[in-house]
Amino acid sequence: MQEIVPSLLSADFSKLEAEIRSAESAGATRLHLDVMDGHFVPNLTFGPIIIKAIRKLTQLHLETHLMIEHAEKYLDHFIDAGSDTVLVHVESSDNVVRDLAHIRNRGKKAGLVINPPTDFSALEPYFDYLDHLLVMTVNPGFGGQTMITEALQKVVKAQFYQQERNFLTQIDGGVNFDTVRIAAKSGVNLLVAGSAFFSNNNHEKAFRELTGQLNNQQL
Ligand code: DX5
Ligand code: ZN
Repeated sequence: MQEIVPSLLSADFSKLEAEIRSAESAGATRLHLDVMDGHFVPNLTFGPIIIKAIRKLTQLHLETHLMIEHAEKYLDHFIDAGSDTVLVHVESSDNVVRDLAHIRNRGKKAGLVINPPTDFSALEPYFDYLDHLLVMTVNPGFGGQTMITEALQKVVKAQFYQQERNFLTQIDGGVNFDTVRIAAKSGVNLLVAGSAFFSNNNHEKAFRELTGQLNNQQL
C-alpha cells in the first residue's frame, strides 16, 4: 500500500474548511498536521486548539507530527484534541518507550520520527513500540524544501523490521512530481505532500497525478 498524505502546513488557513474538503474530495484518507514550537525547530505553527477545530470538520485520519521540545507534557492535549496518530521525534524525547507507550495506552497510533542527520541505529531499540515510522527527508521546520534522497535508505532498512512487525513507514519533505517516483521505489507506505498538494492550483489534479506516479514506478 502506498498513499499520498496532504500536509496542512502549506494550506491557506483563511479557508481551512475548503482546504480540508479538497483533500477529502481528492481521495486522501489522512491529513498530516505539523506542530512546531520555535525551539525544536526554527518555526511556529499551531497547537491543540486548531487540531480540535480540524477534528470537527473531518473524519480523515489525523496524524499529528510533534516538532516540539518536551512533547511528553502535551501528548494528552493532542490526543484529546482528536489526533488519531501522534508522532514524536527520537531527537527530542528523553524517554521514547514511555512516550510511545503513553500514546498506545490512550488507544492511538504511536509514531516515531527521525531527522536526516540522525543515524538509523537510533531507531533500533524502538521497533517493538511503534505503529508508525516517519523518516524525515528534509530537516524539519519548513515546507517546500528539497528532498534529501539519501534519507530514503532508512525506509529500506526499516523493511527488515517491518517483516515481523505491523507498522507503517512514511516520508516527509520534498515530495513532488520530480521526486515522488524515486521516493516510492524505497517501498515507503505513506508520502507526505505539503506544497506539492496545497500550493498547486488544482489540489485534486495534483493528488491524482502524484498517486498515479506511485503506480508507475517502473516508467
Ligand atoms: C516539514 C514538515 C512537513 C512539510 C512538508 O518540517 O514536517 O510535513 O509540510 O512540506 P513539503 O511537502 O512542501 O516538503
Ligand atoms: Zn511533517
